[in-house]
Amino acid sequence: MKILLGVTGGIAAYKAIDLTSKLVQNGHEVRVIMTESAEQFVTPLPFQALSRNPVYTDIFHEQNPAEIQHISLGDWADIMIIAPLTASTLGKIAHGISDNMLCATVLAFKKQIYLAPAMNSNMYENIAVQTNIDTLKKRGFKFIEPGEGFLACGYVAKGRMSEPLDIMQYITEDNIEKDLTGMNVLITAGPTIETIDPVRYLTNRSSGKMGYSLAQAASLRGANVTLVSTDVGLQVPSGVRHIKIESAQDMFNAVKDNMEQHIIIKAAAVADYTPSETYEQKLKKQDGDLTLTLKRTEDILKYIGEHKTSQFVVGFAAETEHVEKYARGKLIKKNADVIVANNVGDKSIGFKSNDNAVTMYFKNGTQIDIPKQSKLNIAHEILSHVKEKGFK
Ligand SMILES: Cc1cc2nc3c(=O)[nH]c(=O)nc-3n(C[C@H](O)[C@H](O)[C@H](O)COP(=O)(O)O)c2cc1C
Repeated sequence: MKILLGVTGGIAAYKAIDLTSKLVQNGHEVRVIMTESAEQFVTPLPFQALSRNPVYTDIFHEQNPAEIQHISLGDWADIMIIAPLTASTLGKIAHGISDNMLCATVLAFKKQIYLAPAMNSNMYENIAVQTNIDTLKKRGFKFIEPGEGFLACGYVAKGRMSEPLDIMQYITEDNIEKDLTGMNVLITAGPTIETIDPVRYLTNRSSGKMGYSLAQAASLRGANVTLVSTDVGLQVPSGVRHIKIESAQDMFNAVKDNMEQHIIIKAAAVADYTPSETYEQKLKKQDGDLTLTLKRTEDILKYIGEHKTSQFVVGFAAETEHVEKYARGKLIKKNADVIVANNVGDKSIGFKSNDNAVTMYFKNGTQIDIPKQSKLNIAHEILSHVKEKGFK
């Protein structure tokens, strides 16, 4: 995206440098406008260096005679962000004042503007500030709320500018293409819990992060998402229907009852074995060893492969060795459309990590490597490839 970043005169102006860097690293083209007060806190140079573009500070300093900058910049950009936003600039925008480069550009800007206020909590709570916020919300401005924390004035309260990463995530999610609208997607995630007795159970190291990221990404892109998982301590993404289960058998039943889908993604780490017997009372310690007998659980992916009609089936293979061989074998044995394989032996990716790196093995022989990045980004890439290969 082409992003116009407005920086105003608050302590948090230094965070705008980091925001510029993050936006550029994520492939966005950034141009920065600073108010005169912002230059009291940071200089234009880091913004210029990071964005590789001139920084605009003075409405009367036209850098290109062929243009009137506060109009042409608005035409150029897809969105505008003001971070940090001072109480003063907030007030000016709310009242249509355009006495500097930033405020004039805002008035001429016809697309979405995001505002990330930052100020002392007393200022933030002031009725004048709150009224200005309400006015702008009604006019369609989107606010990226400040967080609570240590403020430069020494207060620990609400008023801290939202972190650059959170601002970037907010904007990314808000501008995502709703290319999965109308799609029904079933996703399984996390480990299963196999009860031994009321106190003990068997489980595995899956965190559920990959499956939850897939649910979040699919939902953001407009899909109707059903997520089947144990309680893994992660927040269920908004808009996602959650079926909470415990055992592999519960998961099997939930999947079987919800097979009417366009896409089924099996990202859960389902127990292959469950105790043959579940004890009603806590097993008491005895002298000598204890032998537990385990029985096979239902093979959920195989069941889906055998009973699918038009569903596009995505299986996951978490392996510690021979990743490609096992993944390709699973693709055929389970009649899946694609297997997403990851090497969980690599500690920098896989189970508990926030990052992952995967390879997708498609039925038609195509192989796609998705390099190491956040699980949310991986999820988006997986969905894009599934959409491209499965629903052309
Ligand atoms: C040290 C210092 C820190 C400031 N921090 C903030 C702030 O975080 N938020 C705010 O709204 N104003 C803050 N101000 C006040 C603004 O700089 C002042 O209102 C200025 O006129 C804002 O101009 P601008 O909105 O055109 O950038 C601060 C002022 C000083 C001296």
